[in-house]
Amino acid sequence: MNNLSNASPNLLIMVAGAKGAVASTLAAAVTMLQDDPSTILPGLTTADKFPFLGPCHAIAMAGWDSASIDLTEAIAHHQVLPPAMWLSCKPALAQIPLRPAPSTTLPLAEQAQQIKTDIEQFKKRFSTAKPVLINLLPAACDLSDPRRFESLDALLSDSSAAALPDLAYVLAAIDAGVSVVNFSPNTVELPLICRLAHENKVVLAGRDGKSGQTYFKVVLASALKARGLYVDGWYSLNILGNADGRNLMDPNHACGKLNNKTNLLDDILEYSVGERYGESAHTVRIDYYPPRGDAKEAWDVIDIKGIFGMPMSLRLNLQGRDSILAAPMALDMARWSAALQTAGFAGPIADLGFYFKKPVGGQAPLTFQAQLAALRRLERSIIERMG
Ligand SMILES: NC(=O)c1ccc[n+]([C@@H]2O[C@H](COP(=O)([O-])OP(=O)(O)OC[C@H]3O[C@@H](n4cnc5c(N)ncnc54)[C@H](O)[C@@H]3O)[C@@H](O)[C@H]2O)c1
Repeated sequence: MNNLSNASPNLLIMVAGAKGAVASTLAAAVTMLQDDPSTILPGLTTADKFPFLGPCHAIAMAGWDSASIDLTEAIAHHQVLPPAMWLSCKPALAQIPLRPAPSTTLPLAEQAQQIKTDIEQFKKRFSTAKPVLINLLPAACDLSDPRRFESLDALLSDSSAAALPDLAYVLAAIDAGVSVVNFSPNTVELPLICRLAHENKVVLAGRDGKSGQTYFKVVLASALKARGLYVDGWYSLNILGNADGRNLMDPNHACGKLNNKTNLLDDILEYSVGERYGESAHTVRIDYYPPRGDAKEAWDVIDIKGIFGMPMSLRLNLQGRDSILAAPMALDMARWSAALQTAGFAGPIADLGFYFKKPVGGQAPLTFQAQLAALRRLERSIIERMG
């Protein structure tokens, strides 16, 4: 077993929510990359990209969580991976430095300061690595009217902002010059935060990782549009039994996620699905169903019409694994963000829309074809800038 503290990592992934289902699977993948890369590398989209970052396996992880269990207990608890797959990584997992999360009862400025102190310590400990922060906190209620925060002081003194911990992590990272990947559905890209990201030359990637059902929705909707097949209705159902699924049963927490999953269909097709009924015929449901744990299942019923308006229908049944789909994307996003920041990019990067349900920044590519083309363009720009 490699000893993480002896390695010279080139990438440092700092994770908010480090003991959650996705983050603990990411931790197992990061340690496994050093032992048996063949189990992880083929599942990454960036394994052959950005050679100037150094080898893909030389990664360190650190982070925060409000839960008091240790990381290996968290991996066992989430049951994403059977013990035989990760027990050999236990010594390396034990070396991942994790700090307690600041209390959300503290003012936002104090939360951010505590996190920034931790970030500086992590950076010192892994001084050879390019740092990136990944937000894997639970889905939460968005702030009302985020445009009202014109200054940092206004945001820091607002009590509703203090209750959305994502903001403390993002502000601390930007202040420390660290790029941010927002994998959660929570809105952190307030106009003020985008401005600060530009000023501090950090990249903002997000929002809401497009890991399963929505990924295939974009692919299928783009294919139907390309063939001129009219989408008359689309019904999507998800069942999942992990903490994310339980959390999303609260309508206040689910609304951001449901909006992210719903709006993109009309955007891709360039008409409202259900227009002839005078109301939306695109429905997305998420139901918490404990027996499934992380092994999420999703069904899509897609009603389409061809010439003469003749109706046809399509069924998709995804038997996925939430965290197995999400963890490599988080790792890929960390590599993209580090590469973009090194090449001098800053602020929200809309061209990373391939990876997200609600891409930040204006004019994000909508169809699957446009999203792949945007990624290729972005990679070419990075290569050109790096000479
Ligand atoms: N799994 C997927 O495919 C997928 C796809 C897109 C988005 N997401 C989003 O990714 C996020 C993480 O998903 P998950 O399944 O790992 O969720 P999870 O509930 O298992 O993990 C969240 C973790 O955050 C910790 N936490 C809560 N408050 C905290 C705070 N203030 N500071 C630090 N840690 C805190 C919790 O203790 C928990 O360990 C969620 O927002 C989810 O909606 C997941």
